[in-house]
Amino acid sequence: SKINLKDYKKPSFDVETVDLDIKLFAGYALVDSKLVMQRQAAGDLVLNGEDVELMAITLDGETLATERYKQADGKLIISDAPDTLTLELQVRIHPQTNTALEGLYMAGSGSDTMFVTQCEPEGFRKITFYPDRPDVLAIFTTRLEADKRYPTLLSNGNLVEEGDVTDAPDRHYAIWHDPTNKPSYLFACVAADLDVLTDYHTTSEGREVTLEVFAKSTDIDKCHVGMQALKDSMVWDEVNYGRAYDLDRYMIVAVSQFNMGAMENKGLNIFNTACVLSSPETTTDARSFNVKAVIAHEYFHNWTGNRITCRDWFQLCLKEGLTVFRDQSFSADQQSSAVQRIDDVATLRAHQFAEDAGPLAHPVRPESFVEINNFYTTTIYEKGAEIVRMLANTLGPDNFRRGTDEYFRRYDGQAVTVEDFLSALSITDSKIEEFIAWYRQPGTPILSGHQHYDSATQTLTITLSQQTRHVAGFDAPIPLPIPVATALFDKATGTIIAERMLMLDQAQQTFSFDNVSSEPVVSLLRDFSAPVQLNYDYQDEDLAFLLTHETNGFNRWQVTQMLVNRILLQSNDSKVYLQALAKTLPTLAVTDPMLAARLLDIPSAQELASAIHQNYDPVLIKQQRDRLYSQVAESLKDQWTILYNQLPLEVYSDSPEALGKRALRNVVLDMALTAGISEAGKWAQQQYDNASCMTERFGALKAMVNYQVTGSDDYLADFYQRFQDDELVIDLWFSVQASAEHVTTDDIQTLLERDDFDWNTPNRIRSVISAFTAQPTVLWTPEGLDIYTSVIKKMDEANPVLASRLLQVLARWYTLVEPRRHMAQDHLNALQQQVSSKHVLESLASVLGAMG
Ligand code: ARG
Ligand code: ZN
Repeated sequence: SKINLKDYKKPSFDVETVDLDIKLFAGYALVDSKLVMQRQAAGDLVLNGEDVELMAITLDGETLATERYKQADGKLIISDAPDTLTLELQVRIHPQTNTALEGLYMAGSGSDTMFVTQCEPEGFRKITFYPDRPDVLAIFTTRLEADKRYPTLLSNGNLVEEGDVTDAPDRHYAIWHDPTNKPSYLFACVAADLDVLTDYHTTSEGREVTLEVFAKSTDIDKCHVGMQALKDSMVWDEVNYGRAYDLDRYMIVAVSQFNMGAMENKGLNIFNTACVLSSPETTTDARSFNVKAVIAHEYFHNWTGNRITCRDWFQLCLKEGLTVFRDQSFSADQQSSAVQRIDDVATLRAHQFAEDAGPLAHPVRPESFVEINNFYTTTIYEKGAEIVRMLANTLGPDNFRRGTDEYFRRYDGQAVTVEDFLSALSITDSKIEEFIAWYRQPGTPILSGHQHYDSATQTLTITLSQQTRHVAGFDAPIPLPIPVATALFDKATGTIIAERMLMLDQAQQTFSFDNVSSEPVVSLLRDFSAPVQLNYDYQDEDLAFLLTHETNGFNRWQVTQMLVNRILLQSNDSKVYLQALAKTLPTLAVTDPMLAARLLDIPSAQELASAIHQNYDPVLIKQQRDRLYSQVAESLKDQWTILYNQLPLEVYSDSPEALGKRALRNVVLDMALTAGISEAGKWAQQQYDNASCMTERFGALKAMVNYQVTGSDDYLADFYQRFQDDELVIDLWFSVQASAEHVTTDDIQTLLERDDFDWNTPNRIRSVISAFTAQPTVLWTPEGLDIYTSVIKKMDEANPVLASRLLQVLARWYTLVEPRRHMAQDHLNALQQQVSSKHVLESLASVLGAMG
């Protein structure tokens, strides 16, 4: 059943304190809870509970008669409750068989198990009956009891007591108290056998904080990168937002089985091992960078999410969009800000634009949902971050800081809405509140424009207009405030003659520039100043000009992408692009190898597909993409040998220069193999054999696999052998095969049937199934879809959150050319008969609703 934003009602009862006592036994767990509650509004007392078995219930010390409460549809409802009350409950749950990885679950297998929680968004109701909604804030005290084979017992806040259990020599307990008011989705506890890496941070307010990263003893040496990132994040938030940490302890726990990246539970983050463990030998630079970004993201949630939380789940973007913007800003300070922007925009364009163009399009703040888990989307996270970026850029650094200071001052300790956020930010500029329209309206605006130069008056006029598709089920779109960062370049000198932020806030507007002595080249949407699709009447030559003269690395990348898209999607000639690359690359490879690597980007097959709205032929697109890739490789053929030799393997360093060289070296290796340079196979083998780090080794392996270099199977076998004890590296081993250029459905099947393929570990499932989507020509076949949908069907019951996310990737089936389109539709229709989770059913209804 659908839940609507407009139906929001305050809870009738608030929880002041909650005492939990969680006892873990071999086959089940008992959870005792004591809630001290206070009436806030008229109505029944409503608690949520799913898969929990009620063993006892008392109200103010008296057993509650069965006619005083009822249990139905995941709720326990007590009518005629007094205005203040103490409710005591005992429930039984089964973490050992909880494969959904929500609530309290046992991870691992055999003798190597641990208990962890994931409560956001609605997992706490699988631990006990509780008003499981983010606007109920309470003080938690948690006693956790377990067998001594789980020596590490953790929960939120401060450790107040630990000891042995009387009369049970094998058991012990710990009591934790969290002094901050928090919603249940931020609750966490862990019982495990883990080692810990410890460090310290003194906050700007003088608080001594103990920092702890818990992981398996064999993984502890991979926790240093994350620890350093945590310390850097703490300083960064003090300097940039004036926010210091507020508890004496900050803990991170690494777990192999986790649906998402990580979770910001108060004082006790739980992380997917893939997002916290990092070492040069086992982790590629890209993944290591991601580890730092996720650590920062979860840390920044402490203020944007935890201390100020969401009134209801419709406001998810309030914490996620703002926190992604904050982690992107942090990351931009750790590397070239241009490359950071390139990577963020590339992700947005590849995934969010596709989502916004398809049947799963929804506003950054949705107005209704069936299952909130389906809304942890790139629209809410990444488009949400872009809106905050527009707000920050529109206000400028000083007024943005005034606005965020006001936000923290006004709403600390509260559960609030997007409107509250905008109202705090607008203290220096009331127009900021008009950005609310960005939160309400789905669809990516198309920004079109043209220019007119009048030499008599020396005036340039730029006419811009915006158009957003009308998504079924929503109001007709209205014009949005779109900040368009603009610069005019003098054609003769290549220098900037004017720079301005144009604010397009009507359907169409004309902007003029005076004293322009000759017709300039206009650079628009610099630094991607708004999340829109740009459609300006450029000549290819203008774009080539900008590739040479733009001062900002992001803008240079943006014009290469426009050129590539024109070649691939509008069949423009590739000559201008190839010439511009040839002119730019040799110097850039030396001055900024990381940017040089990015300028050679050709969008992935999936990204190209997202820009095609009908008759998408995966085979044709692959051919066109391969052809352009070959043209680039051929036309710069002499460069690859020069560049590869300029980039010898070096002793490992994590400096930005070293990262840039490694990134470029791997791109050059691919290009050399494409160009058919005869030594390139040797280079790959030597790079693998002499690698100083995973970026080099895996780059070489991937190249060998994709280009079927002689001996690549032996290298795959060697890779497995070397890293067989490291799950995350073995995930790479699976994914390099599952995403290979020449992969077949038989190959995928073989990978899925291996003994080391583990259906309980989402990372492993994704390492095959999500990697496989890199090859649309194979995915969109009857055999490909058989495999893909059978995995969804298999996970539908076991882990519906994961199943639904896998399904969402198929959303653009209706753009396929026949007969693939009907074939895909048949598969999805068949799937609908075989699934039962509300997660998958909600996604499937939207996905199938799209009849193109
Ligand atoms: N709040 C977490 C983050 O942004 C994401 C957790 C979402 N979990 C889920 N099951 N939907 O880092
Ligand atoms: Zn988050």
